[in-house]
Amino acid sequence: MSSGQADEPPVVELDNAEIVYDRTFLAVQGVSMSADRGDIVALLGPNGAGKSTILKMISGIGRSERGEVTRGSVYYEGDEVTNAKTNEMVDRNVTHILEGRRVFEDLTVEENLRCGLYRGGRRIRYSKSDYDIAFEYFPKLEELLDVEAGYCSGGEQQMLVIARALIHRPNLLLLDEPSLGLAPKLVVDIYETLREINREEDITMIIADQNAKETLEVADYGYVLENGQVELHDPADVLMDREEIKEFYLGTSSEESRYSEIQHYKIRKRWK
Ligand SMILES: Nc1ncnc2c1ncn2[C@@H]1O[C@H](COP(=O)(O)OP(=O)(O)OP(=O)(O)O)[C@@H](O)[C@H]1O
Ligand SMILES: [Mg+2]
Repeated sequence: MSSGQADEPPVVELDNAEIVYDRTFLAVQGVSMSADRGDIVALLGPNGAGKSTILKMISGIGRSERGEVTRGSVYYEGDEVTNAKTNEMVDRNVTHILEGRRVFEDLTVEENLRCGLYRGGRRIRYSKSDYDIAFEYFPKLEELLDVEAGYCSGGEQQMLVIARALIHRPNLLLLDEPSLGLAPKLVVDIYETLREINREEDITMIIADQNAKETLEVADYGYVLENGQVELHDPADVLMDREEIKEFYLGTSSEESRYSEIQHYKIRKRWK
């Protein structure tokens, strides 16, 4: 399952974490999960399952939305970071790509990439030329440097936000719905590139996505959430073969498919 060393702690670990918004809304209950060094971990599940909430509490961004880990713990590289602030996690080389391809639309591609050169307000230095890592994986961006990001296609914008994150040289990259709204061919391309980046640059990744097939194809391990709880978890290849996943996410069940007749709320029942 893991490419990490047996004696090193996971890059991220949630131990029985409960996450509450506004001190009242229980979004995640008793979730335990981990990402080992060098792995891609898939976080799957329907709308509202708690995928983004988990990513936001790992990066600390959830705190600005009045989210709080009220029980259990979060660890990063073996250190407890429960309810840590975003700037602390940025300093620890955690980069979070939020849902929705958030580019600065009025700035050029080059200006957007330049934002990746700053961490906590300080410019960071590399041995390689600054944008090399971005162009290595997304050569198209080099042709678009002077184009305003708002004029770029959805796929180009997705490349841009991933490239900008790469310039940060993250140790852990959190990606929220990178495939949302992209054409199927582009989804495959983006996922293949993410896998390449993961292997070549040794960046651990957690990818939250509803697109189970493409995500599991590149992931090492997967968790399926529902209603803020982990319903299933397994190595990605095992998970992909499970009947529940095939039937409800991949639509390739060997049993007679009743997908169209079954409402989402019944998934939980089937998984029991
Ligand atoms: N800032 C917030 N304040 C209050 N409740 C929130 C907030 N963000 C999310 N929630 C609630 O927490 C629950 C989990 O939401 P979350 O966004 O983590 O789900 P998700 O799995 O990412 O869903 P999606 O696939 O739609 O992105 C939902 O019930 C949602 O309404
Ligand atoms: Mg989400």
